[in-house]
Amino acid sequence: MIEKTCAIIKPHAVQERGTTGAIIELIERNGFEIIALKKVHFTEKEAQDFYEIHKERPFFGELVDNMIAGPAVVMALSKDNAIQEWRDLMGATNPEKAAVGTMRKMFGKNISYNATHGSDAPETARRELKQLFQL
Ligand code: RTP
Ligand code: MG
Repeated sequence: MIEKTCAIIKPHAVQERGTTGAIIELIERNGFEIIALKKVHFTEKEAQDFYEIHKERPFFGELVDNMIAGPAVVMALSKDNAIQEWRDLMGATNPEKAAVGTMRKMFGKNISYNATHGSDAPETARRELKQLFQL
């Protein structure tokens, strides 16, 4: 089934010259269609809303701070089984545990600076794409 998912290149990765281009190239090579794409500098409120499900977690403050540290590149991707396919291409949340060839292995530094975000379920994808693109 063709699905949409929300992908984000996190600010620390956008800041590194060449990483945005490399990630976009891998997205295209892996058969995703980029339906929408823009560079956005999240406000604190926008980042808090985006990661609302994690608001009780001990890492929430750090996560929000990292998301507002600079511009992020946000995308709507489409593919058969896009949500799981993009999570597979990103790799494990912790780059140290991510498989070779995944985004987080290649471009992540540690769990807080793990290069990319991906929606985790259809309902989350809908909510995230609505927030970012009114899609
Ligand atoms: P994401 O939402 O960013 O795609 O990542 P994910 O599903 O793989 O992981 P999730 O559990 O949703 O966590 C969201 C983001 O929070 C940061 N995190 N830090 N310090 C920690 O223990 C910790 N745990 C998670 C990560 O940057 C993760 O991407
Ligand atoms: Mg998540």
